[in-house]
Amino acid sequence: MSEAFALGTRDGIPDDIAYLRARYPQGDWAAHVNFGQLCDFWLHVHRSLRSEGAAVEAIIADFREGRLDARAFPQRFVPALNQFLGHLDGHHRIEDAVYFPKFRALDPRMARGFDLLEADHHAIHDALETTVASARGLLASLTDPRAADTHAAAATTLTRLLLRHLGDEEELVIPAMLEHGERRVG
Ligand SMILES: [Fe+2]
Ligand SMILES: [Fe+2]
Repeated sequence: MSEAFALGTRDGIPDDIAYLRARYPQGDWAAHVNFGQLCDFWLHVHRSLRSEGAAVEAIIADFREGRLDARAFPQRFVPALNQFLGHLDGHHRIEDAVYFPKFRALDPRMARGFDLLEADHHAIHDALETTVASARGLLASLTDPRAADTHAAAATTLTRLLLRHLGDEEELVIPAMLEHGERRVG
């Protein structure tokens, strides 16, 4: 994948990659006759990931700003982080293994977009591993503000990458399902 469209630096995807985007404006998706259960489920999973990521960030902020103490923090933080990262990892695995190959098979023009999305998954996986390592560091030294700073920075990076990826992925997969019918990829 070209560095020009690396997840960490890009500001959306160009029209020649998202070649169906203009034909299916986001505001019209849900009203389209081909918008069915899979489109709805895809967007629902992405909404869940956004809210789970935001919940983890809120718990970290509560701890750093003194609204959660060092005893209460791990009880809130560990299950929320595990849920978020497990959900994220599982979602990307099924996209890579099951769904993305079916989108590629719809049209050769899909290849560039799905190369980009798969490269995003690698970048997000790296950020996820950094987040797990910094979370362990924080849990091992709850009284060290530097450990909290390091983890907060890692979590913020992961969230930023994920939000960019989810939005861009939606602009590729939903128009493709509206164009070709979701049964072709379900
Ligand atoms: Fe994805
Ligand atoms: Fe996704």
